[in-house]
Amino acid sequence: MTILAIESSCDDSSAAVIINGKLCSNIVASQAIHTKWGGVVPELASRAHQQHIVPVVAEALEKANITKNDLNAIAFTRGPGLLGSLLVGTSFAKALAMGLDIPLIDVHHMQAHVLAHFIDEPKPNFPFLCLTVSGGHTQIVFVRSALDMEIIGETQDDAVGEAFDKTAKLLNLPYPGGPLIDKYAKEGNPNRFEFPMVEMQGLNFSFSGIKTAFLYFLQKETKKNPNFVEENIADICASMQNILIKILLQKLRKASRQYKIKEIAIAGGVSANSGLRSELQKLGETENWNVYIPAFQYCTDNAGMIAMAAHFKAEEKIFCTQDVSPSPRMAW
Ligand code: KG4
Ligand code: ZN
Repeated sequence: MTILAIESSCDDSSAAVIINGKLCSNIVASQAIHTKWGGVVPELASRAHQQHIVPVVAEALEKANITKNDLNAIAFTRGPGLLGSLLVGTSFAKALAMGLDIPLIDVHHMQAHVLAHFIDEPKPNFPFLCLTVSGGHTQIVFVRSALDMEIIGETQDDAVGEAFDKTAKLLNLPYPGGPLIDKYAKEGNPNRFEFPMVEMQGLNFSFSGIKTAFLYFLQKETKKNPNFVEENIADICASMQNILIKILLQKLRKASRQYKIKEIAIAGGVSANSGLRSELQKLGETENWNVYIPAFQYCTDNAGMIAMAAHFKAEEKIFCTQDVSPSPRMAW
């Protein structure tokens, strides 16, 4: 089974080829255009997808050493994501599948983040818990099998990736700020500044309170010293990153104990964060977990994970029809 997968849910245009469950290519074209606007501009994102999609698909086929006539199915991200962006990938996938007269596979973007763990070894054993952290989502997912997952906890307001990006914006760092906070945090003292942690019920998260607390903290400190940010950037980033990681890991530990599961994974763009990766490893050692952290290239948006999710669906012959449309708020 040879599948071409397309990902276009946000600001990365990506195509991948998977052959019998083995990923053979995974090409990602990021969109630099958004940096100067301080966030993803949906209209610009969909236009950039239109420019990138043909070359990205051509490169994915070439790298896998195949032509379009070797394909048995076309997979695409149906949602969640930005409508204009999703429309480009969905329309392209539908047209190509119709032209080649082969089946279509629709994929849920967040489920694909979880299934990125099956691209490389070591693979988690079912059932496992996955902390899925991206620019739009923060969830703890109970994964019974590749096709059976349930959200057992999620953010009630902002996603943790948004908290990283908004923190960066307040510090005048360009978008996406998450990787920059990570970079500065490596040089800083995580215990220098304290921010209040809001207690949330059950396994749910909240990040809007901490964002507001951070804004007031900056306003207060820069009033006293206009150069406060420049002089303390590393400690500010390290302290903020520290509290965000604490919030995530506290709930993950609670979920593991509640569900009595010690197979623990992380996924999504924020799982690229080096502080989160090392703190999770440490917690895993004290809690006796088997911890699974994806390779960097499979953390942020990529079509390789869409291809992996499509492979599992294809094994069960789960295809969709040509009347499928993108779903910006796609349900699980
Ligand atoms: O999964 P993803 O690529 O796209 C979405 O589906 O949202 O995640 C993007 C998010 C952004 O908020 C970005 O700032 C964050 O992941 N991110 C990071 C790091 N790398 C990406 N956040 C913290 N540290 C990083 N190293
Ligand atoms: Zn994502």
